[in-house]
This record gives sequence, structure tokens and C-alpha cells, in this order.
Amino acid sequence: MPHTRPYIYPIALILIGAVLLADCEFETLAHLKPQASDETQARAVGDLLKRLIGNRASEFIVSVNRSLALENGQQDTCEIRSSRNANIAVKGSTGVAAATGIYNYLKYFCNCHISWSGNQLNIPSPLPPVTGTLRIASPHRFRYYQNVCTQSYSMVWWDWARWEQEIDWMALNGINLPLAFAGQEALWQEVYLSLGLNQTEVDMFFTGPAFLAWNRMGNLFRWGGPLPQSWHVKQLYLQYKILHRMRSLGMIPVLPAFSGNVPEAITRIFPKANVTKLDPWSHFNCSYSCATVLDPRDPLFQRIGGLFLSQLVKQFGTDHIYNTDTFNEMTPASPDPSYLSTVSGAVFSSMTSVDPQAVWLMQGWMFVHDPVFWKPAQIQALLGGVPLGRMIVLDLFAESTPAFSLTHSFYGQPFIWCMLHNFGGNNGLFGTVESINQGPFEAQRYPNSTLVGMGLAPEGIEQNAVVYELMNEMAWRREPVNLQKWVSLYAGRRYGSGHENLAAAWKLLFRSIYNCTVPHYKNHNHSPLVHRPSLHMATELWYERKDLLEAWRLLYSAAPSLMAVETFRHDLVDITREALQLLVSDFYLEIRAAFQNHRLPELLTVGGVLVYDLLPELERLLSSEKHFLLGTWLARARSLGLDAKEAQQYELNARNQVTLWGPSGNILDYASKEWGGLVGDYYAQRWSLFVSTLVECLDCGRPFKQEAFNQAVFQVEQGFVYNQRRYPDKPLGNTYEIAKRIFLKYFPQAMNRVSPAA
Ligand SMILES: *[C@@H]1O[C@H](CO)[C@@H](O)[C@H](O)[C@H]1NC(C)=O
Ligand SMILES: *[C@@H]1O[C@H](CO)[C@@H](O)[C@H](O)[C@H]1NC(C)=O
Ligand SMILES: *[C@@H]1O[C@H](CO)[C@@H](O)[C@H](O)[C@H]1NC(C)=O
Ligand SMILES: *[C@@H]1O[C@H](CO)[C@@H](O)[C@H](O)[C@H]1NC(C)=O
Ligand SMILES: *[C@@H]1O[C@H](CO)[C@@H](O)[C@H](O)[C@H]1NC(C)=O
Ligand SMILES: *[C@@H]1O[C@H](CO)[C@@H](O)[C@H](O)[C@H]1NC(C)=O
Repeated sequence: MPHTRPYIYPIALILIGAVLLADCEFETLAHLKPQASDETQARAVGDLLKRLIGNRASEFIVSVNRSLALENGQQDTCEIRSSRNANIAVKGSTGVAAATGIYNYLKYFCNCHISWSGNQLNIPSPLPPVTGTLRIASPHRFRYYQNVCTQSYSMVWWDWARWEQEIDWMALNGINLPLAFAGQEALWQEVYLSLGLNQTEVDMFFTGPAFLAWNRMGNLFRWGGPLPQSWHVKQLYLQYKILHRMRSLGMIPVLPAFSGNVPEAITRIFPKANVTKLDPWSHFNCSYSCATVLDPRDPLFQRIGGLFLSQLVKQFGTDHIYNTDTFNEMTPASPDPSYLSTVSGAVFSSMTSVDPQAVWLMQGWMFVHDPVFWKPAQIQALLGGVPLGRMIVLDLFAESTPAFSLTHSFYGQPFIWCMLHNFGGNNGLFGTVESINQGPFEAQRYPNSTLVGMGLAPEGIEQNAVVYELMNEMAWRREPVNLQKWVSLYAGRRYGSGHENLAAAWKLLFRSIYNCTVPHYKNHNHSPLVHRPSLHMATELWYERKDLLEAWRLLYSAAPSLMAVETFRHDLVDITREALQLLVSDFYLEIRAAFQNHRLPELLTVGGVLVYDLLPELERLLSSEKHFLLGTWLARARSLGLDAKEAQQYELNARNQVTLWGPSGNILDYASKEWGGLVGDYYAQRWSLFVSTLVECLDCGRPFKQEAFNQAVFQVEQGFVYNQRRYPDKPLGNTYEIAKRIFLKYFPQAMNRVSPAA
């Protein structure tokens, strides 16, 4: 293998000479640190390297010495230098710091890449030398990862192999504060049975696996349930392994705590319990929502919270940090500040009664979700109910709607600046690279900032890997990057060197589709493709479509020599998918115009191309690439079932989540996915019915009635959920041939159409 020229653009070089701005210090958080010995952490990183690069791992000499952090105000630090025999010596203050240093070296010296959509690990031999010492140091105490919803939208069906891969990814990307939420229902079940509830009552409480995130937050119960006993056993087994691995790498896992959300039947045992039945959540009615919430001032709250936490600490050990969200998307009983501070004080004391060193990690989502209720007085009261520095607030959607600047840095409570980026785990290229590149530093410079970390809080993952890589680097940098340069290097790493045209493609993407600057934009996939058709669908874009189409052309042109590279195959499919999604909007607008202007032949032509060619081509394209298969999602779900009945239940959970979400389409298409299987049997069927309904209306001179169409199309949607068809979990067909046919047919059309963007 030729010796690749080292790419000298490591994070560390950026740091040299830069003003050192570090997070403010909170003595109250000093005990949140790795528990594993330095030796254990070093060994865990060595094992990670073997999983990642096999024999080449022996060329890295990894050590961990916590004293290294002393020179960096106790924050994570890593030093990398060349040593004898062309080996590379890596010394980290923690396992995570060492792993981050290694990934930085792999990226910027070896031109390698690791992502959800594939790795590019063509490592030069011998390893490129490091001149002097490469020093990588984070200005932040914490690098947080996960949204409580990620557990359901992405991780719900994972086995240990997939978890292991993700924990490796976390370590390599610097994450030291991850949620560890698996297995908690097993403990809740024990707590409630021990209080005297019977199994039926417990079964009436839990949702099925795909909806547990919202059960835990008190939004939802019973839907998709009950949880089989085998589920608890398997999740407990996973949780032990997850915690052990996270801790051995030097991470500080965050465990769940009690929010007040209880089974309705609690009042059979405790008739005097001060519970409130909440209003329905989202578009559900009281059959599956309207949670029963225990008043935190009721002594029973301390009892249940305490029982759960002691059980949790006994089973899992603790790192003294717990997450709970009492008011997520729920309106509190009263806006009275004294009530709100009593409530947060009570929640906190239910933690400290078991673990005197407890720190409460809370999502600050409600402050941006419901600003009408959460005025400064309410926020200050809630945060003030907990001693200063004993709570960490996640500024969850900071890249779009930061809350720190509206609350004087959360009135003195420490906070973590989080990028949310993704809602519902949708596909769709998207990013706000400018605010990711600036926001973290603005948060640090904010007067009297209480910033203690950076974080990722996506509702779903396994999409837009580039945005997460950028954000993860931000947690180790002290100033913004040059985005155009950064993304050129990214392209080189992602596909291997020698594909300069692709840097041009990525530069185009970074200035357009990844550069959303619309204030407070919420990244759902708004494309008509993945929504129930109507005559009132929005098709606005936030970017110049020419840029996307030119990037498509560049990727397509490079394809013949790059199809063997997994990351490239993924991206060719992804960008072709995005371009077809654009065309669906064009076709939709033409269909609508043809209908409104009574032009039947045009309606038949455009509708026909959409339903009989474009969507089937998209279905074939997606089905040819392993990262875009409905069959994988369903097979993973089924594989967790102990028998056919459980497999069936999990499969229905899995199908429902990505389509109807609730029994009657309650949160329809929120978690949409452009996957092979789903495009053909769900989205295309819907569009087919829409087009044929319009044709019929025009033919008979009838108006289009949305209500009647909704009822008819609901049958189609439900038909998919219950069709019992098996979808392949292995790719089918030749991706290149399909992508080529699509490009030749549709690229000229896409270029010719006038942009629907304003
Ligand atoms: C860790 O680093 C400190 C400070 O540099 C040093 O005194 C100590 O010997 C090191 N420990 C090991 C085990 O190398
Ligand atoms: C649980 O208790 C309820 C209410 O008393 C009762 O209707 C139900 O039959 C009980 N179930 C079991 C399994 O004991
Ligand atoms: C029960 O809680 C409500 C508020 O949720 C409060 O107004 C009421 O005083 C409480 N009742 C008792 C008996 O504590
Ligand atoms: C909730 O809606 C479902 C239909 O989706 C209906 O069957 C059920 O009776 C409703 N429940 C309540 C309590 O209104
Ligand atoms: C920052 O804190 C100091 C000391 O508490 C205070 O005097 C100053 O007014 C604060 N600055 C801002 C902008 O809040
Ligand atoms: C993003 O768009 C803004 C204008 O809205 C522009 O100033 C900026 O340079 C763009 N960023 C990139 C990376 O192209």
C-alpha cells in the first residue's frame, strides 16, 4: 500500500496558541468521574482497537493516566507521539480521552473514517509518524449523548453486537456522559409488585418496546404492550453488559430516576395517594394516555422513588447521576413558583435520600416546547428548587432554539449545549452547520456562563453522519473551523484519498442542504413523499436545489470506480434518494395543478410516471443497499421474541412506530423512513390511491374530499401494518445499475424543472 501523505489538520494543532476558554468549575460535580482503574480503561481501549482494526492494533501502545488531566484543569486530555518500531504511543487521562485521540490520529494522519454508514480504514503502513507530541484536550467536563427518544427510535431492537459498536463509536468520538436506560422496566415491575399491584395492573401500564420512551415520560401507556417477561430478562442482560463496557472505557453512564408517573392501579393500594390524571398527550385519547401522576409532595413519592433508586443502585451500581423529566410535554398542575420549586426539591430529595451524592440531569425541552407556561419566573423556580450545581440542564435544541441565553445561563445551574438535529429518526439530508460551528463558542463566551459540556440529543440516529462528526469535534475545539476546508477533508476520509471531485460535491452540500439558516427550523422530513397526500402539502426548501443536483451529478460520475467502498455506496443511494424526493415534490405540484385546472391527460401522465416509475425505482434503489432496508428493522425486532407470538408483537410495534405510530394514525408518519419495503408497500400505495382518486373525481366532475380520502387511505396504511409480508434483510439488485438508470432518466428532468423554492 502506498504511504499516504499525512493530513496535518488535527484538532490539537488548531488549539496551539488559541486562547484557552474552559468551562466554569462546579465543585459539586467533581465526584462525577470514571470509576474504573487507569489500567482497566487502557485495556478497554486496546480491546476496542482490536475490534476496529484487528492486528494493526498492536502498533498502538495505549496507556491511561488520570494525572494527565491536571494540566488541563481536570478536563480530558490525550497525548500522541511516535515511539520505537514505528509504533504510536497514546496516553489519555481516561479511556475515552485515549480513544478520542486515536480517532483524531486516524482521521488526520491516516485519512480514515468511522461512521454509522460504514468505515473507511485503509490505514497506511507503517503508521505515519507524529513529530513531537500531538496534544488533544477538551475544554469541557462532559460530552453527553442520546435523547430519551433515541432509545425507542433507533436502539430498541439492538443486540449486544450493535450496542458494542455504538459504545465504541461513543468512545472514539469523545462521549463520556451517555444515557444507560435499558432494563429499567424490570426494576419498575419489581417495585410495583412489591407494593401490592398484581401482574395485570403492571401489564396495563407498560407500553410495547417501541414506545417505552414515552411510557417512561408519562405520555403513554399500554399501547403495543404488555411487555413479555422475556423482554425484561434480555434487557437486563444487555444493561449489565452496556454499563460494564461504558464504565471500563471511563464513561459516566446516566441512570433513570422516578418522575412521578405511576400505574393507575396505584390508587387501589393507596386510595389516599395524591394523584392527578393528566390530559391526553398529543393525539392520543385516554385509552392509552392521560397518565396518572403522583404529587411529588406526597410522602408516597419519596417511597416509590426511593424503592426504585435503591433497587437500581443495588442492581447496576451508580455513577451518581440520574435523569428524570417530570414535565416533559406535560403541563404542571400549577404555575405557582412556590409549587414548582417544591416539586423539583421533592424530586431531588427522592434521589438524595438513596444516593446523597446524586446529581439530577434534566432535559430543558419544555422550556422551548411550551414557552407560554414556562416564563422566566417558572423556570427560575423549578431550577431553584435544587441546590446550585446539583442539577445539570440539557439545553436540548441549542443549535436552533437555545434556552441558556433566555434564562441567564439557567439561573446559575450548570448546563450542556446539545445539538438535537433529528426528529423521529427521519431520513433526509439536513444540517445547520453554521450554528453548530458557532453556537458552542457563543455559549462559552456568554456572560457568567455555566456551561459544563457539549452534547448530542438526536431523537434518532444512523443518518447524516457528517453532522455528528462535526459536532463531536466541536467539543474538543476552542474556535470554529473553516467549514469548507473541514468538509473537503471529510470527503477525503470518507471515501479514501484520490477523489477530489467528491470534495467539490461535499462543499456544495455544505453550502446548501447542510446549511439551514431558517430561524428555529425543526428538521422533520417535510417532503410530500413521506406524508399522507392532500391538496395542501408544503414543498418549500431551505436551500438552492441546483447545488444538491450538481452534487448528485458529481457522486454519480465518480461511481464506477468507487462502488466497492461501503460509505460511497451508501452516499450514492442517499443523495439519489434525496434528489428523487425533490422530484416527488415537483410531480406533486404538477398533479395538483393538473387536477385544479381540469387537465385529465396531464394528470394521467404525471401521476402515472410518479406511481408506476419513479416510486418503484426508488424502492428498487433503496432495496439494493443494506443501510436502507425495512427488512433489517423488522428482522431485528422479531429476533428478540422468544416465540412466534412475541416476534409478532415486536414486529407490529416496529411497523407501527414508523407509520401510524398509534392505533388510528395518532402521530402519523412522524418517524417516517425512506426504506426499501416501506416506499413500495406504504408510500407508493398511498400515492397511487391519491392519484386514482383525483382521476376519478375529475372524470366524474366531483370535488376531491379530503375526509373521505383520509378514511380510504387509512385502510391502505393499516393494510401495510398488518400485511404479514416478510421483507428482505439482505440487499437485492445492482445498486450502480439502478442508480445509473435513475440518473439518466431523472437528472435532466430535475434540472429542467423550476425550483418550487421561494
Ligand atoms: C502518571 O503521571 C504522573 C504525573 O506525570 C506520574 O507521576 C505517574 O508516575 C504516572 N503514573 C504511571 C502509572 O505512569
Ligand atoms: C388484579 O387486580 C384486579 C383488581 O383487583 C383484578 O380485577 C384482577 O383480576 C387481578 N389480576 C390478577 C392476575 O390477579
Ligand atoms: C394534592 O395535590 C394538589 C396539586 O397537585 C394540591 O393542590 C393538593 O393540595 C394536594 N392534596 C393533598 C391532600 O396534599
Ligand atoms: C380512543 O380511541 C379509540 C379509537 O382510536 C376508541 O376505540 C376508544 O374507545 C377511545 N377511547 C376513549 C377513552 O375515548
Ligand atoms: C456576572 O456575575 C457577576 C458576579 O456575580 C455579576 O456582578 C455580573 O453582573 C454578572 N454579569 C452578568 C452579565 O450577568
Ligand atoms: C451558509 O449560508 C450563509 C448565508 O445564509 C452564508 O453566509 C454561509 O457562508 C453559508 N455557509 C457555508 C458553509 O457555506
